[in-house]
Amino acid sequence: MAKVTGLDGIVAAETDISLVDGEKGHLVYRGYWAKELAISKEYEEVAYLLWFGSLPNQEQLEAFTLKLQNNRVLPDSIRNILDALPASMPVMNVLQTTFAAMSDDAPSWPPTVEQAVALTALLPTLIAYWHRRQSGLPCMEPYTGLGHTANFLYMLSGAQPNPAHVKALNAYLILGMEHGMNASTFASRVVLSTQSDMASAVSAAIGAMKGPLHGGAPSGVIAMLDAIGTKDNAEAWIRQVLERGEKLMGFGHRVYKTRDPRAEALRQVTEALSGNDPWFDLAVHTEKTAIGLLEEYKPGRRLYTNVEFFAASIMRAIALPTSLFTPAFTAARVVGWTAHILEQAEINRIFRPQSVYTGPMPEQL
Ligand code: ACO
Repeated sequence: MAKVTGLDGIVAAETDISLVDGEKGHLVYRGYWAKELAISKEYEEVAYLLWFGSLPNQEQLEAFTLKLQNNRVLPDSIRNILDALPASMPVMNVLQTTFAAMSDDAPSWPPTVEQAVALTALLPTLIAYWHRRQSGLPCMEPYTGLGHTANFLYMLSGAQPNPAHVKALNAYLILGMEHGMNASTFASRVVLSTQSDMASAVSAAIGAMKGPLHGGAPSGVIAMLDAIGTKDNAEAWIRQVLERGEKLMGFGHRVYKTRDPRAEALRQVTEALSGNDPWFDLAVHTEKTAIGLLEEYKPGRRLYTNVEFFAASIMRAIALPTSLFTPAFTAARVVGWTAHILEQAEINRIFRPQSVYTGPMPEQL
């Protein structure tokens, strides 16, 4: 009998936050197509939708934007923690450690939307602070007049961002915000279900996010396309990988058995940004070649591009270093994690699945 692994098809919770339909390739956030939100709305509007259940009117949006802005500044207590960490630490480990340190010893049940706003607003500041520290650059204070996405780019680069880059990153962040019961979201709900606090649950989610099978894939996609180098080389290179029994980064998904709708939307956004770039041309050619070869080597598995494949193209087009790919995904997904944490708290019952013992028994029962 096959080993029980991976919780395939197990329903762990009912949710009003998003629908992921892997057969039809649908992704819906609280009644709206995610891909439409990605090209027509700002980060702030979709975060509001996921936390509060409806899109904000103008007055609500202004008040909410101000709340996010007010929580962007790095408190001295957190700065002291960051400065005590070794400068070689990868950003994801820094985020996980900082969130764990932020978890309050005082009783903090139930979690609140104010906590979600504060953690989400601070995350880009933490990423930018660490990136600039590692690059030997001075830390940038948040720029009050800029929206969440533009300010993120500003704090990373220290310069006013290119509006086309802001638009592309905004679309990516919206598409990365939420995706049902993925591994990191599940981890956050499990931790919260013990009545632990929101920062601890987010810290656990960050630990799950950094694995190469989850949020660590886009840098693998860049490495793969760099190694392929030219369109002529694509088929032979992909065949070698598949013959060795290895996986192609940016392909396959536990739920989607058709093209990931986020990949489709991100492909359009990247095309608008860098349609003439030979690297993008190579990405499109590699996608087509790989899908054909995956069907040849893994017939019937229905393996297509996932969100990470074109996320890599966007990150490259906006000149984000590879070390920041997974942190940028984290700056998106923190909204989904915290929305799920709030939902879990409303109906909470501690998660306690079972395992089947397959080891030996003592000789005498
Ligand atoms: N390349 C080659 N073969 C693959 C790939 C791939 N990218 N993905 C799956 N397969 C094959 C597996 O080898 C397996 O073959 P088998 O039936 O002969 O054993 C079959 O397809 C089923 O794959 P599983 O690994 O069982 O699928 P699972 O649902 O466990 O994994 C995952 C999904 C982790 C995304 C997987 O497809 C993968 O590792 N992809 C590459 C990494 C990646 O792109 N990750 C980003 C995911 S998106 C996100 O996290 C936001």
